[in-house]
Amino acid sequence: MNILVIGPGAIGSLWAIKLQQSGHQVAVFGRHTAPHYQCQLGESIYTFANHQVDDIRHADLILVTVKAWQVASALERLTPQINPDTIIMLMHNGMGSLDTIGALLQTNPVLLATTTHGAFKPAPSQLIHTGQGETLIGAANAQGGRCQFLRDVFDHALPTVHWHPQIEHALWHKLAVNCVINPLTAIRQCPNGTLAHPEYQARITRLIAEVSAVMTAEKIPFQLAQLTAHIYQVIAATSENLSSMHQDVSHRRKTEIDFITGYLIRRAKKHDIAVPENEALYQHIKTLEQSWESLI
Ligand code: PAF
Repeated sequence: MNILVIGPGAIGSLWAIKLQQSGHQVAVFGRHTAPHYQCQLGESIYTFANHQVDDIRHADLILVTVKAWQVASALERLTPQINPDTIIMLMHNGMGSLDTIGALLQTNPVLLATTTHGAFKPAPSQLIHTGQGETLIGAANAQGGRCQFLRDVFDHALPTVHWHPQIEHALWHKLAVNCVINPLTAIRQCPNGTLAHPEYQARITRLIAEVSAVMTAEKIPFQLAQLTAHIYQVIAATSENLSSMHQDVSHRRKTEIDFITGYLIRRAKKHDIAVPENEALYQHIKTLEQSWESLI
């Protein structure tokens, strides 16, 4: 397939390399306009065409791995070149990016994906695959529902990949994880594992109770005990990791808070559910973001 990866950050580069290794024609569209992008993984260096308008036009599949808040602006700029049949797959933390793209991509098959692979770029052209994971993909519209073959394409490139018949459900479970881990670790500037300390337990219990109330109102199937256990498992499995929001805050970059806790709060409002513990974390992160925006 002709595949274009928009946003060759850590996860985007990982997929670009793995899809190229499995025989696809892969190009990228990054922030920089150099005609090529090179990335080293292990001993090998991989080269991709970058920023070429023809690669947008000829793409069978566009994998969008920019942050949730960048999806609308990235697609707005490129939509005039995107073929109406090209499959679009969004893979990022958080939810609600589709609400921001309005009338764009009316005809395209659209898919959503979530992955637990760990990847890290210690330098702009160097990638470390820090942890094996699992990827779930599913349809965001009726046309996307006809693209189940992509499970095999992606699984061949980087296993394990599952097709999820209701990807929204999986994304809500991931949102619950991110609502707990990301803002707390960003505010405390601690690794994920610190949240296992007893001092965080009461707060985490309240956060999970609020998320659960909204998930129930959204009719997302889950069990509170399992969801809680899952969140603590992720804390344990990623105990040494610095969460993505921790890294954004320490580098004074815009965070994904509007698409993680912000999305939860927007859904809670719809159902008239109070989520004060999440509101407090949201305000704290927004205040941090504004404090460095005002320094620029
Ligand atoms: O955003 C992140 O950092 C990750 O989604 C997670 C699971 C919290 C692990 O650090």
